[in-house]
Amino acid sequence: MEQGRVSTAPVLAAADTTIPRHVAIIMDGNGRWAKRRHLPRAAGHKAGVDAVRRVTRAARAMGIEALTLYAFSSENWRRPEEEVGELMKLLRFFIRSDLAELARENVRLRVIGDYRAFSPDLVALIDDAIARTAANSGPLLVIALNYGAQAELAAAARRLAARLPAERIDEAAIEAELDTADLPPLDLVIRTSGEQRLSNFLLWQAAYAELLFVDTLWPDFDAEALADAVAVFGRRQRRYGGL
Ligand code: FPP
Repeated sequence: MEQGRVSTAPVLAAADTTIPRHVAIIMDGNGRWAKRRHLPRAAGHKAGVDAVRRVTRAARAMGIEALTLYAFSSENWRRPEEEVGELMKLLRFFIRSDLAELARENVRLRVIGDYRAFSPDLVALIDDAIARTAANSGPLLVIALNYGAQAELAAAARRLAARLPAERIDEAAIEAELDTADLPPLDLVIRTSGEQRLSNFLLWQAAYAELLFVDTLWPDFDAEALADAVAVFGRRQRRYGGL
């Protein structure tokens, strides 16, 4: 498993680099970033939003078709109420401050996960943002909100069981029921901050994705770090079970 930065020089997406179509990121390390600076955890999340903006722009510039960001897991409700509130506040802030740029840049905003469990005003804000970018034809920015892969799979199984006889429930049928049904296949999952696990993120979709764990804390992740990750991806050999 490759760790950390792979080079100190900026690695730009050269013409011969294979650009992954769909990159997903587990944005971890906001709390530790803040702690190192003797700041409250909320300051780490705020810096995390700046990283979201930077990396979203960089992914667009590199020609990545879909970028999926794990912003709030279905397990994150276990955090103190104040921190959950802070994350919701930042999400509102991000949509309000960045939607115009995303719309102008032809980005299609999507959400995976059960975001309808959020407060009604936030649900309305998210629905409006999705609707306002739905007719765009450019890159997809997919935000995972109240997302958990096991719940996603269980919900898909329930819907299929209500509609199809057991023998017709196959991989393709399951795939078509997932929140990610119309997204490009997942190529690369990046987790920041040195932790090496998937934490209930895109478990089905990651079946043949390349996994990359980097030590960089999420608020420090930038265009160069993304380019490094893409360069590592370009050197991986994907065999999908073959030789
Ligand atoms: C993990 O860091 C990060 C999160 C649980 C939330 C990620 C959210 C953002 C970056 C901001 C909101 C997102 C958008 C799209 C506007 P951690 O708190 O678990 O860090 P730690 O492991 O160092 O404590």
